[in-house]
Amino acid sequence: MHKPVLLKETIDSINVKEGGTYLDVTLGGGGHSMLILERLNGKGNLVVMDVNKTALENFKQRLIEEGFKESGTVLIKGKVQVTLVNENFRNLDQILKDLKTKEFDGIIADLGLSTDQIYQVEGISYLKNTELDMRLDDQLGVKASDLLNALYKTELENMFKNLADIKFEKELARKIIEYRKTRPFKTTTQLKHLIQEVVPLYKRKGTYKNPEAKVFQALRIAVNDEIGALKTFLPLAFEALAQEGILSVISFHSGEDRIVKNFIRDMEEKGQANIVEKLIKPSQQEINTNPRSSSARLRVMRKL
Ligand SMILES: C[S@@+](CC[C@H](N)C(=O)[O-])C[C@H]1O[C@@H](n2cnc3c(N)ncnc32)[C@H](O)[C@@H]1O
Repeated sequence: MHKPVLLKETIDSINVKEGGTYLDVTLGGGGHSMLILERLNGKGNLVVMDVNKTALENFKQRLIEEGFKESGTVLIKGKVQVTLVNENFRNLDQILKDLKTKEFDGIIADLGLSTDQIYQVEGISYLKNTELDMRLDDQLGVKASDLLNALYKTELENMFKNLADIKFEKELARKIIEYRKTRPFKTTTQLKHLIQEVVPLYKRKGTYKNPEAKVFQALRIAVNDEIGALKTFLPLAFEALAQEGILSVISFHSGEDRIVKNFIRDMEEKGQANIVEKLIKPSQQEINTNPRSSSARLRVMRKL
């Protein structure tokens, strides 16, 4: 079960009011959304979104168990309405047009993957021997194996360096090119073995720690164009905020965090927003109980 990261900090930051309208664009295991629902105190609107169908189906089931009734595309309990949307947040403008919901008092994004996906979605984790896929959305055409089989050496190097701060990118790219001359990449295990050759066990310290997790992360971010999606999403989310509405974003990688930080700074410089929380990191206590939270960075802005 996915443990929500910076749960209280994120939901406190959007200051949920009874009767308000909120949007969670990365539903995942639903931890953040459940706390929003609790704080709506029996009245308000919540729109939840995810590219992953299973996340939405599980959440729907959970709401039904909590007494919500299905009515068309929404779930209703008393004066609380929840709308489920199976979409990429990069299409937020189109989605909101279709929903006719224009203004939100708070929007949250908790980027990346949920633990449930790491263990359950085929081809995302190096922990299982499966097809090397990595697509969060099966409508996408290019799989991780396609990238490994097709990218030029410098493209591979840049992908590993820029999307996961990898320090052994040149050696890894060289090995990938050499390997694919004799057979194409198809499975997670093929890549895992290659990483083990580049970073043997005795080297796995400091920046060489967890090399499989880093390489797989870089591929996942590239396959799903997660950087492009985030850059497209931020201005659309800002547009969708009501006046005084709050946008809170949790990222797990310095490349993503930089994009969020620069966006907030630009909007502040234009006089359109102010910074509510410059940077919130998880406490040592949270890191101890949920090591995955250690790289989380929360940034919060308010629309003026
Ligand atoms: C870290 S999890 C969210 C966890 C959630 N906050 C919770 O409390 O359980 C991120 C979720 O965002 C989804 N996701 C990632 N990129 C997305 C995108 N571009 N559009 C919509 N959903 C996305 C993933 O499928 C995943 O379920």
